[in-house]
Amino acid sequence: MANPFYLQEIPADAPFCNRLEELKELHSYAEAKANVVIYSPRRYGKTSLVKRVQKNLSKKGAITIFSDFFGVASVDDMTARLAKAVFAVTHKNASLWKKAVRAIKSFRPVLKPEIDGTFTLSVEPSSIGKSGLNLLEETMTSLGEFISSNKNILVHIALDEFQEIVALKDALKIEAIMRTYIQQQKASYFFVGSRRRVLLGIFNEQQRPFFQSAINYPLRLLPAEELEKFIVEQFRAGKRKCTLEMAHKLASLVQDHPYYAQKLGFFVFEIADQVTEDAINRGLEKLVFSEKPVFEAIIQGLTSQQRLLLHALAKEPTQKMLASSYIRKHSLGSIGGIQHALRQLEEFDLVEKDQHTGYWKLVDTVFAIWLKSQVEEKVR
Ligand SMILES: Nc1ncnc2c1ncn2[C@@H]1O[C@H](COP(=O)(O)OP(=O)(O)O)[C@@H](O)[C@H]1O
Ligand SMILES: [Mg+2]
Repeated sequence: MANPFYLQEIPADAPFCNRLEELKELHSYAEAKANVVIYSPRRYGKTSLVKRVQKNLSKKGAITIFSDFFGVASVDDMTARLAKAVFAVTHKNASLWKKAVRAIKSFRPVLKPEIDGTFTLSVEPSSIGKSGLNLLEETMTSLGEFISSNKNILVHIALDEFQEIVALKDALKIEAIMRTYIQQQKASYFFVGSRRRVLLGIFNEQQRPFFQSAINYPLRLLPAEELEKFIVEQFRAGKRKCTLEMAHKLASLVQDHPYYAQKLGFFVFEIADQVTEDAINRGLEKLVFSEKPVFEAIIQGLTSQQRLLLHALAKEPTQKMLASSYIRKHSLGSIGGIQHALRQLEEFDLVEKDQHTGYWKLVDTVFAIWLKSQVEEKVR
């Protein structure tokens, strides 16, 4: 029986746990041409959710453009990604494609046939020869023309990992240009992102161009009960037995985290015919091991002060990070140093203060488990 859980990105037609309320709300925001900021820690399901909203919108006739800004390297890169996204949604419809090619003057689409019969789509700058902020303005004008050339058709644009623009040179100018043009367009934009502080800064700081221009929409973890039922159901679909009790154990080990629950489910399914506590524990070891390259890459980008603080919070979440006993116990150094490291770790969305308990902790539970495993060794 094929494994019913997903290690890789979940396809748009695969079983999806809950999120019915969110699908409905976001759908109606889009139809009302509202702009929305959707934020949560990584892998809570923002991208999959937004793709599903777009799928439903496009079933009702909307044009849905999706562009991912992750790792964007320059304004030109960001602009090319936007243009490519417009060509990507229009290429199957001759009249839309024509409109897109006519409207988008700064780029031309390049379709390259592959050996397997598919095509890859990319864009090349056209002969206009603009670059940088001028190119962005030109492209946003083009996008506006494309939107207004489709009268009575809803155009929905999702910009994933939108906060990445903040790292670009002239970030504030980019924000200002984007905001000006978006304001004039009769479309709905979803700004999606994982680095909550940075993303929310764009929309909630008074002096920034996007200030209060979009609805703030936090995406929470999955409700425990729904996730547990989903896990049982997935095992059943794979002809394996998982009791609600075991599903609870599985979900709570990863604190109802959608991605980790999906992945842990995958490993447990591979390990045993029936879900047992032992299978779940072995699955968790596999899960942590499989995430190791991701965690190592994160650690590599941090300073030693940031690493120290991360290790301390992984081992011992605290309400009093600056208490001298905590600092001494974890050899954290000066208060100024800790505060600086903390600010950066928050910007990377690696640590947060729990709003209910006031405890500082790691955002990602599995990352915390892995960090602890580096300094603790299981002895049998
Ligand atoms: N509601 C859900 N039901 C089932 N699996 C989910 C759900 N939400 C997220 N996932 C799992 O988590 C993975 C990561 O989700 P993704 O949308 O990429 O998160 P984000 O964009 O927030 O980082 C998905 O590929 C899927 O396996
Ligand atoms: Mg995402």
